[in-house]
Amino acid sequence: MDASMALPVASLNAERYQSVMGFWMLWAVLSFVIVLGAALWFMWVYRRKSDNDKTEYVPGNHWVEFFGIFFTSVFVAVMFVWGWRDYAAMVQPRLNETEINVIGQKWLWNIQYANGRTLTNHLVVEVNKPHKAIVTSKDVLHSFYIPAFRMKTDAVPGMYTVLRFTPTMTGEFDLFCAEYCGTSHSGMIGKVTVLSKEDYARWYDGMMKLGQNDDHEGQPKLTLAQLGRKVYETKTCVACHSTDGSRMVGPSFKGIFGTDRVFADGSKANADENYLRESIMNPMKKVVKGFAPQMPAMRGLLNDEEVNQLIAYIKTLK
Ligand code: CUA
Repeated sequence: MDASMALPVASLNAERYQSVMGFWMLWAVLSFVIVLGAALWFMWVYRRKSDNDKTEYVPGNHWVEFFGIFFTSVFVAVMFVWGWRDYAAMVQPRLNETEINVIGQKWLWNIQYANGRTLTNHLVVEVNKPHKAIVTSKDVLHSFYIPAFRMKTDAVPGMYTVLRFTPTMTGEFDLFCAEYCGTSHSGMIGKVTVLSKEDYARWYDGMMKLGQNDDHEGQPKLTLAQLGRKVYETKTCVACHSTDGSRMVGPSFKGIFGTDRVFADGSKANADENYLRESIMNPMKKVVKGFAPQMPAMRGLLNDEEVNQLIAYIKTLK
């Protein structure tokens, strides 16, 4: 009943998941034994004993009905609350999350770190540290799946999905694509390396190499946010958006991340990653109140890596 023998339980979510699944399995096995046992028992005790043996008329029993419905309802309610609690814990933002950008494409995973490093098919994380993976796709649907963490999320072109996890065990684990995405779907395999705090710091600073695939030695020249600043300067954002709060043709980038934006039609939205992405790629969708709808769509002019860099830059403008 403990699947951990087959698969490591390597994140906080995996631990919670194991409890729920263990409970479900226990009940499934118990129900199976009780129902089948009762059926076999009745078959034996009330078997036909002679040719004249007639079945008695059974008019039904309200108490049996009541308890059948009552206990099933209680059980379902308990499982609902349990599932709700675990789900809430899974999606809840935490302080000091390490943000990692993940981009799926046929047929590999690109992982961008805040210090500007990009790894292919290799996710390196720190044990006991909350992480926020911001996931998207360049082409078709993929699914970012880490079995040892019992977590996955769809990678959807044109939007971000978020996966929050806290690894609880150092070691190496599998990273799969769990959504059929064409010819080499089955080859879209990577690995997850969970390091201790000290090792992670050394790896992050380029002082430690992880195997032969880790060819990004040394400190990258620019961080993700600095790369984003270059995008801001070279891809014409700078012509209309200030970074110091002053008003130009478009709204300033200063302090907008995470705040509520009010639009021309009076509606509101929180300026999260998905909002920023949409406003860059398809700016007419939501025009901020008091500004003219003049921005050209950047779809096709910025690639997914650059959009991630730009958003990382905007996040630093507090
Ligand atoms: Cu990517 Cu399946």
